[in-house]
Amino acid sequence: MTGDLASRLRAALGESAVLTDPADMAAYVTDWTGSFTGTALAVVRPASTSEVATAVRLCAEAGVGVVPQGGNTGLVGGGVPDSGGDQVVLSLGRMRRVREVDPVADTLVVEAGAVLATVQEAAVAAGRLFPLSLGSEGSCTIGGTIATNAGGTAVLRYGMMRELVLGLEVVLPDGRVWDGLRPLRKDNTGYDLKQLFIGSEGTLGVVTAAVLRLLPATPRRATAFVALDSVEAATALLPLLRSHGGGLLTTWELLGRQAVDLVLAHLPGVRDPFAERHEWYGLVELAGTPADVDERLESALEAAAEAGLIADAVVAGSPAQRESLWALREGVSEAQKSEGATLKHDVTLPITALPRFVAETGPRLLETLPGLRLVTYGHIGDGNLHYNLSAPVGDDAALRREGPALTRIVYDAVTALGGSISAEHGIGVLKRDAAAAYKTGVEVDLMRAVKQAIDPDGVMNPRKVL
Ligand code: FAD
Ligand code: MLT
Ligand code: ZN
Repeated sequence: MTGDLASRLRAALGESAVLTDPADMAAYVTDWTGSFTGTALAVVRPASTSEVATAVRLCAEAGVGVVPQGGNTGLVGGGVPDSGGDQVVLSLGRMRRVREVDPVADTLVVEAGAVLATVQEAAVAAGRLFPLSLGSEGSCTIGGTIATNAGGTAVLRYGMMRELVLGLEVVLPDGRVWDGLRPLRKDNTGYDLKQLFIGSEGTLGVVTAAVLRLLPATPRRATAFVALDSVEAATALLPLLRSHGGGLLTTWELLGRQAVDLVLAHLPGVRDPFAERHEWYGLVELAGTPADVDERLESALEAAAEAGLIADAVVAGSPAQRESLWALREGVSEAQKSEGATLKHDVTLPITALPRFVAETGPRLLETLPGLRLVTYGHIGDGNLHYNLSAPVGDDAALRREGPALTRIVYDAVTALGGSISAEHGIGVLKRDAAAAYKTGVEVDLMRAVKQAIDPDGVMNPRKVL
């Protein structure tokens, strides 16, 4: 049955929509991190919702699993097939149209394969804002950000993708289409079905289009990079930034010195804004229309200095300076990848528990693997740390050998302090077994019941998440 699936897909979608040559499929079977590589029976590239429905139906009839894929920037191995060679990658790359921007309803209708940056630009062109913002925004897609419930650097003010979606169109595992593409702000007609698909990482259906919320434009931005002595200072600063920001605080990010060192070492043209080295840094941004955005940031920084919470600060005086401060933050993923073996821990804790987590976990990790580099950074305003690890210099093998023990130390500490082992990247394959171990039995049972109800034959993204 699977043998002639490619022929049937070609007959239905056209010759050029189905790839089977390993060289053509290579870019679709390895993830951005390079840690997850699989093999696929075929890569199918439908151009419309009905073609997605046909492709999924044909795969379901053949008993073949479907792996939805957007920009392939996911960090947990969820968007690539495994090594079984018995799955079809369904790429949304040809469905990238912004169908409608409605500045009265404050909504935007878009196909799932549209790149996030394109949607941000469409909102700006209409005098509005689509606020989701991630380092990968030039490549990741709307379907991918919905499927992972992406977060990023403006969650503090606008929430995660879940809060920005009003309606969805989804192809179900049997090939039927659920048309929930409604722009309604209020719709209490039972279970909120779209929320089931948001964050489901392609395991329940293929998102083909969405209605997104637009927000008021924020043409003025005030940005500063600050030097901090401790993580406590970073958490203590949050209420102060909020009160001085008066609703305009959009970003509060943390960077440890090792993260900054990697960016300075690997990214050309980036420089340290301070003459002295510091242990910790923060990136703060206020955005909006009021003329006093800059004054609000200045007054926040003055109050922070008076309270002894910041050791130094540089305020961006031009768009170019703003870009260079942001490059220090947005460059960490790329720089850490260039440095060699990496172990990512995208964790979240109650914000007041973060200083204790950092203070207690680092020494335990270093005891297990001396020389390990703690590349700590992330969205501290949301209580989300990328508690990433880089191998001791020149010893990638040691990180691979000790990886499971190191991850156990991190996850045990997170759990003991009331946190979660995935804040924004999801479960995919990377955290599938850990999620089963760290979530409660009731949670796992409920998730399995949802999967069984919507995808009883296990067509969608097999062996991911659950
Ligand atoms: P893919 O990687 O293609 O897929 C991700 C998952 O979604 C897979 O499980 C896939 O099967 C599923 N999927 C994709 N499209 C669909 C669809 N149409 N229907 C159903 N399922 C689908 N993430 C954050 O949350 N915050 C960050 O700050 C952040 N920063 C990043 C920075 C860098 C440099 C990089 C490389 C990644 C970053 N990420 C971040 C992770 C990643 O960009 C997000 O998870 C993003 O949402 C993935 O989108 P994508 O289109 O690339 O999805
Ligand atoms: C980021 O915020 O830069 C990414 O989500 C973190 C990562 O790549 O681990
Ligand atoms: Zn992040």
